[in-house]
Amino acid sequence: MKTKIYSISFLLIVSIVIIGAFSTAIPQDSKMPPAREVPGLNSPDKYPKACVSCHINYPEMKTDARLSVLSVAWNTQVEPGLLAKSQAACNEGVTLKGKHPSKFNENTNIPQACITCHSKTSKNAPEMGKLMHTIHLTGKDNTYFSWGNGDCTNCHKMDKSGDWSIPSGKESEVGK
Ligand code: HEC
Ligand code: HEC
Ligand code: HEC
Repeated sequence: MKTKIYSISFLLIVSIVIIGAFSTAIPQDSKMPPAREVPGLNSPDKYPKACVSCHINYPEMKTDARLSVLSVAWNTQVEPGLLAKSQAACNEGVTLKGKHPSKFNENTNIPQACITCHSKTSKNAPEMGKLMHTIHLTGKDNTYFSWGNGDCTNCHKMDKSGDWSIPSGKESEVGK
């Protein structure tokens, strides 16, 4: 009987010592915020092909967001909101006309094909990176913050070595 009581108290002391050690390592009143989920880094990536993974047809929302579809209107007249964000992304001295010079289809490689004209030194078109940032990341009520959660990693992907790149692809490869 006595040995049983001894061994129980021994166990109790050992547990108190162990708990004590842990509580000095992690303060008990610690209020660490929960981790933010960043797609592709610590949570699944829903848009592995960037542009063409997200700009698809969403029949359930009655929204066809394919760039081959959205861009049809640009050949006649660019909507004022988009034109203002595009103008903001232009190099100094460039004034947009409000009409897109080329057409896209489901086999256009996006954004690779866009970057050939939308280069950093372009004298008639906004640079692709700045254009993408003003379109998706500026403006009150920008739906990118609800739809894409505002995440950089929907477009920018990091590999195991820490390198960043933007995948390019065709709508025809994604389907829908
Ligand atoms: C995670 C989803 C997502 C990804 C990835 C994405 N977009 Fe978008 N894109 C959106 C949303 C949402 C909008 C609408 C933003 C707003 O409310 O103005 C938009 C708007 C646009 C527009 C303006 C369309 C219009 O008619 O006004 C263009 C052009 C565009 N995106 C091109 C691209 C390109 C090119 C890429 C890849 C480099 C890309 N997007 C990646 C979600 C995405
Ligand atoms: C052949 C060259 C060329 C290609 C390819 C091209 N663009 Fe453009 N883009 C231009 C020029 C030039 C303008 C400026 C048009 C203007 O003055 O309004 C422009 C303007 C725009 C604008 C601002 C709205 C407008 O038309 O002014 C958006 C958005 C745009 N491009 C998106 C894209 C995307 C997305 C792609 C690829 C799928 C693409 N472009 C491919 C030359 C090109
Ligand atoms: C909708 C797609 C998209 C989103 C979202 C996006 N970017 Fe980009 N970003 C691009 C594209 C396209 C380029 C140009 C890549 C190229 O030219 O090869 C670019 C280029 C860049 C560059 C290089 C600029 C330079 O001058 O070379 C930086 C830095 C950058 N992005 C940071 C960010 C950060 C930070 C976020 C999030 C707050 C973000 N991007 C969100 C599409 C995006």
